[in-house]
Amino acid sequence: MRTAFGETFDVPPGYLNTASVGVPSTSTARAVSEAVARWARGADAPPVFDEPVAVARAAFGRIVGAPAERVAIGATVSQLVALVAASLPEGARVLVAKGDFTSLTFPFAARGHTVTEVPLDDLPARAADHDLVAVSVVQSADGRLADLAALRAAGVPVLLDATQAAGWLPLELDWADWVVGTGYKWLLSPRGTAWLACSEAALARTAPLVANWYAGDDPWTTVYDLPLRLAADARRLDLSPVWHAHVGAAVALPWFASLDRAAVHAHTTGLADGLRAGLGLPPAGSAIVSLDVPPEPLLAAGVAASTRAGRVRLAFHLYSTRDDVDRVLRALA
Ligand SMILES: Cc1ncc(COP(=O)(O)O)c(C=O)c1O
Repeated sequence: MRTAFGETFDVPPGYLNTASVGVPSTSTARAVSEAVARWARGADAPPVFDEPVAVARAAFGRIVGAPAERVAIGATVSQLVALVAASLPEGARVLVAKGDFTSLTFPFAARGHTVTEVPLDDLPARAADHDLVAVSVVQSADGRLADLAALRAAGVPVLLDATQAAGWLPLELDWADWVVGTGYKWLLSPRGTAWLACSEAALARTAPLVANWYAGDDPWTTVYDLPLRLAADARRLDLSPVWHAHVGAAVALPWFASLDRAAVHAHTTGLADGLRAGLGLPPAGSAIVSLDVPPEPLLAAGVAASTRAGRVRLAFHLYSTRDDVDRVLRALA
């Protein structure tokens, strides 16, 4: 058991795979187990889940810099990105980073838009003449950071995927048109939680493609019959919730929102750059380290990592320690 930032985690030594799946705090895991136990006894009714959905929604907003009224809930990133893709004019020109995660890029291609891939660092310079730039704040494959200041200055509509960033990188993304993110990695929540924060103008142009009872102006009075009566705020875009997933997110996300973001950032990037220094590499300022090394020695040393784009990916979160760094260095020595 490890303690970090006031929470306890049943995370094994050498666990450096948060970029694939985060380990919940014991509080988050307990909340979900208790909810499953109540379900197994027939002790809960659907309205019980309204509060956790609202709590997690508001906390996601605080983490990325958006008010709760402009945050919609979903289950996956791709499903929420598909709303954005469906809201662009036919044949829109969408600029993406080569190698970005496909849940961010496929929905635009599947919709028939013209999707252009360029190297991550070229996005700001190439943004003009595009209807949208869609990019991950932190690249899944190797942890590289997008140049957000330059993208903002480019003045083109932007969709940011904060999945690999929210939870360790301090974010102030109120300038972006759309910000999407999922809970099951760095936000240490169950899979089945995702959110889409919209600027006021972006919300007005986002199609409520998954219109459902929960997206109604008053969910418990919009379960039957037309006319269509969707919420005026971002709830109009809601997918009806994966209940037990939001129970966990309602514990994890307010905790993240309450943390000293600079301290979390210093801890995670400090460990990652500490590993890089031990390997003779310059600092990169990312919690994700991508190495051109064979995975076998790490596996044998009990390091949990993942292989992405032919390289080993190691992710340092707030429950990671210097012992984890040393374990990797010993394995690669
Ligand atoms: C940047 C990024 N976006 C999204 C996802 C997950 O997508 P989805 O929620 O559609 O499964 C991942 C998972 O690795 C990711 O790295």
